Amino acid sequence: MALCSRLVDELEQALRLNLEGPSARRPLGLATGRTMEPLYAALVERLLGWPSGDLAALRRSWCSFNLDEYLGLSAGDPRSYRSFMNAQLGRPLSLPKGALQLPDGQAADADAAALTFQAALNEQGGIGVQLLGLGSNGHVGFNEPPCGREQACRVVELSDATRRQNAGLFSGDPEAVPVRAITLGLKEILAAEQIHLVVTGREKAPILGRLLAMDQPDPALPASWLLEHPRVTLWADADALSLS
Ligand code: GLP
Repeated sequence: MALCSRLVDELEQALRLNLEGPSARRPLGLATGRTMEPLYAALVERLLGWPSGDLAALRRSWCSFNLDEYLGLSAGDPRSYRSFMNAQLGRPLSLPKGALQLPDGQAADADAAALTFQAALNEQGGIGVQLLGLGSNGHVGFNEPPCGREQACRVVELSDATRRQNAGLFSGDPEAVPVRAITLGLKEILAAEQIHLVVTGREKAPILGRLLAMDQPDPALPASWLLEHPRVTLWADADALSLS
């Protein structure tokens, strides 16, 4: 789809810059969810077409931080975001261990794991290019409403709406979706140099319509804090825009 190929151009450009060495490098911020699947497939196809030397350099230089991870799933659980990222990017691109950074969803001390993840990101200077999906209730990452812009990486409790939205991978049972997660906060998201918000499908039309009608942020719709960011691009298909 055209939307994918133009966004893949942007991501490819950011990854090419990363090849130029540590000074040019701030990590990519990656998201999970159904919205990202066609995008990651198109990105993989594009990157596998690179000359082998460039691809080898890409593998060596890859550094990305995901937004969030469920708490309480066992290691290797196919429904974890770690498994999603390994399946979407890690294995197809043969990325080295540690290239895809996610919060530790199995940590005995989840609060400490959130702090560790935040510290690792800060050590890299924060996010360069951040990909974002949009929750049906307006969440970004797992920043559930209401959410202030100063909220940082932390443990959160997931709303019933989000557990319903994400029940697909859990045999359609919202009760089976974990209750808690670790997420980057609006603080880390808004500190990214550039943000790409990707919204597709008719089920996102109501929330995207609400978001696009706003002229100032409201904690009741966490994605609306993006209005305060100087470099946000919205990538939306006609279905998602059908109520805007
Ligand atoms: C999930 C994730 C978000 C994701 C969003 C959209 O709950 N925590 O990071 O971007 O909701 O998901 P989907 O693309 O499946 O609609």
